[in-house]
Amino acid sequence: MNAPSTMTSAVRPATAAERAARAEANGGEPTLEFAERTPYDAYVHAGTLHTLQQTLSKDPGEMSFLMISQVMELYFGLVRFELRETQRLLGEDDVYGALAPLRRCALHLDGLNAAWQTLRWMTPADFNKFRNLLGEGSGFQSAMYRHLEFLLGLKTASLVRPFKRQDDVYHDLLASLNGPSLWDDVIALLARQGHDIPAELLTRDFAEEHEAHPAVEAAWVAVYAEDTPGNLLRQLGEALTEVAERFDVWRHKHLMAVARTMGAKVGSGGSNGYAWLQRSMARTVFPELWSARTHM
Ligand code: HEM
Repeated sequence: MNAPSTMTSAVRPATAAERAARAEANGGEPTLEFAERTPYDAYVHAGTLHTLQQTLSKDPGEMSFLMISQVMELYFGLVRFELRETQRLLGEDDVYGALAPLRRCALHLDGLNAAWQTLRWMTPADFNKFRNLLGEGSGFQSAMYRHLEFLLGLKTASLVRPFKRQDDVYHDLLASLNGPSLWDDVIALLARQGHDIPAELLTRDFAEEHEAHPAVEAAWVAVYAEDTPGNLLRQLGEALTEVAERFDVWRHKHLMAVARTMGAKVGSGGSNGYAWLQRSMARTVFPELWSARTHM
């Protein structure tokens, strides 16, 4: 995501004084002449982005399906970026700092969820117009979505298998699977901040899905019991709750989109569709953050 490319070299930094001088020279109008391609394109790669909408059919409805999938992929990447940034800051015990990427993450998830809005027109008849051409292609094969699940603590080792033939993707995903999730990092933070967390939770095999633990639940009950403005852990708990809830909203809206466009038919990715997704959704993100509320 951060890799500089030769294309970004056309973006030249400018100072406030240079901007002011240019605006004055332009008489208030935007600049219209550039020696090379526009700095906007050099930065956003808009030209490249707009070459990626390669539909498989002539059905005009397919364009929204493809582009919304691409928009969601980009959001998945952005959410992953924020989750990793949160992990980095928590690793440095910077709880206040970690609130910022978590806040951004929740807002990005709002944007991601709003994208479902533009697929609401699609009936089964509309979907059927191009569905066969997708073959075995399914969002289930989104490596970036799987990163999100792993980072959020939903770990299913077998789900890296589809990517075995894509070296970089596979190894990157394995690293997310085998490394601590954000939830593991939060639990380690709770331990460092004096909460009574059993050692086995800190040294466990992170590729295994974390099972809700009473000690973590008790720690959150204690954190929330302290109702003071300086209680950063409580603010962290709420920020994580915002993320977990919005991620669930994505899963729910996806399930509704599936119900609307294909009912209980089998999926293109080989699963039994709605029923499989419902099972997948049953896994809870940050489980003790929810269960602790019963004891507050
Ligand atoms: C309304 C159109 C859609 C339908 C009918 C649909 C259908 C399905 C089905 C049936 C599955 C289960 C796996 C399988 O294919 O057998 C699935 C999984 C998935 N789809 Fe969609 N999908 C739709 C739109 C999207 C879009 C726009 C995205 C965004 C990229 C997406 C992302 C995913 C992901 C990430 C999974 C895996 C979920 C999990 O592991 O729990 N889907 N989809």
